[in-house]
Amino acid sequence: MTSDSYYRVFHHEREHVIRELAAGPRTLKYERPGFRKFSYPDDVASAMIAEIPGGREFGLVPKFVQLFVTSPGYYYRPHKDGGSLRMGINYVLSTGSVNDCRTSWYAEATMSDAPRVNLKRGDLVVSRELELNTPGLREPACTRTFCVEDGAILFNTDVYHDFNMGASESDRYLLTFRSDTGCDYGRALAILTKFGLLR
Ligand SMILES: [Fe+2]
Repeated sequence: MTSDSYYRVFHHEREHVIRELAAGPRTLKYERPGFRKFSYPDDVASAMIAEIPGGREFGLVPKFVQLFVTSPGYYYRPHKDGGSLRMGINYVLSTGSVNDCRTSWYAEATMSDAPRVNLKRGDLVVSRELELNTPGLREPACTRTFCVEDGAILFNTDVYHDFNMGASESDRYLLTFRSDTGCDYGRALAILTKFGLLR
């Protein structure tokens, strides 16, 4: 697979509107050392989704509009998002001066022997993870350092991916959108193509 199988940056002329909305009220939902997750009031989240071309076709939902704030040194092990989330749209809002947050994707075959664990909240699977808790244990198929200038990023969340802020020097703010309709990465690419947005 080429890098196009894991992510695509795309044109989005009104992403500044999303940034303004994202700077508004938000609620801290979860915190652990080096990691904070925020959500938005429904009306704010809906307004952000309305600014994304094709937002309705992707099936983006307000409850999955989240802001992840991660700190220097933080590592999130390989995982697939949610129980069955297949694609996401991400915007890097801020990374500070030294940004070296490396996102990597891994081919399924290189992970076949790794112990698997589903993280749950109640009965809900919130992440499908591999117990590979140290960076660099496997060879990635694709690695990318995303920055604010990338703008809108279509992200394949249904392939094992990790991110490593080992060499970053400031917090990273990442705004994330997810679909609950089963829209997969391939279908999302087709939607972006239809809207003429792929770079
Ligand atoms: Fe993820």
